[in-house]
Amino acid sequence: MVNRKVFTLDEFTLREMRAFPQATGELAGLLRDVGLAAKRVNVEVNKAGLVDILGDTGDVNVQGEEVKKLDAFANDQLIGVLQHGISCAGIASEELDDVVIFDNDISKSSKYICMFDPLDGSANIDVNVSIGTIFSVYRRVTETGTSLTIKDFLQPGMRQVAAGYIIYGSSTILVYATKRGVNGFTLDPSIGEFCLSHPDIRCPQNGKMYSVNHGNFFQYTDAVKKYIDICQKKNKTNGGPYTQRYIGSMVSDVHRNLIKGGIFMYPATDAKPKGKLRLLYECNPLAYIVEVAGGKATDGKQRILEKQPTELHERTPLFIGSATMMAELEDCLANENEH
Ligand code: AHG
Ligand code: MN
Ligand code: MN
Repeated sequence: MVNRKVFTLDEFTLREMRAFPQATGELAGLLRDVGLAAKRVNVEVNKAGLVDILGDTGDVNVQGEEVKKLDAFANDQLIGVLQHGISCAGIASEELDDVVIFDNDISKSSKYICMFDPLDGSANIDVNVSIGTIFSVYRRVTETGTSLTIKDFLQPGMRQVAAGYIIYGSSTILVYATKRGVNGFTLDPSIGEFCLSHPDIRCPQNGKMYSVNHGNFFQYTDAVKKYIDICQKKNKTNGGPYTQRYIGSMVSDVHRNLIKGGIFMYPATDAKPKGKLRLLYECNPLAYIVEVAGGKATDGKQRILEKQPTELHERTPLFIGSATMMAELEDCLANENEH
């Protein structure tokens, strides 16, 4: 018997579309394309230890094909599906210096652009720790039918139409947000479909987990150190000490905090005064998802989604998570910002 309670990603996005009579289905198509690339990446991630996929780019495997690192593989899969789909006019990727403009007639008439981190946490690949893909979708600002320009990519995060991520973890989950809400779909490998498993995700207002690289502690500002100190102690209101969790794949850390409540921080350090994480395809999409779910995201001074990007690969400090924990952090940072 067919279980009609199961919604596939496709069915869900098409239903959502019905709320917008003017919708053309392009966004649903783009999400399906990203889901397809994710399924292919998932297959490779799952056999990462079995084949030579861990080899450096440039190696040749037994079939005589070039062996690619998983992040290069994920990058190629995403570009492939989006280039051949009808929804995307061009992309930007962590793996590529420049944007790629799809200059064929069909893509030129598409209204969306997509930016992505094909594999986040790639240093974790060889050690069987969860990794992910992060993506961000904008409506182009140039006219459809013309070639894209860099202006289409350098838009503030609040203009995102959709943002999402896939985590290749104990199971594979695709989470995406539009202004209508955040929903999670777990891959059912037996049928190869993402099925709605986490409807209407809300980020708990408070949490007990904080995620930060403690190895950098002495490079943080006094205000950030003070907040970490608060996390480690009990006070009248916070129910601390909190639990520290840091996977080293931001997408997995942020996903856990989104579901369970918590805060993730990648502050500026002496070595990386602008922070490490990239605004356009790491911080903006996660900030959008977390904000739609009721949480907050800032660079310590400004809301991430309001930052006007000036460069494709620019970096930013990031503080993101449950609203109450973010308010607690902002109290510490406010004192610093006043000085
Ligand atoms: P990527 O694998 O795409 O380069 O991103 C890794 C990022 C992020 O996912 C993670 O939280 C952070 O780098 C870890 O950095 P540190 O090792 O400096 O803590
Ligand atoms: Mn990354
Ligand atoms: Mn990456």
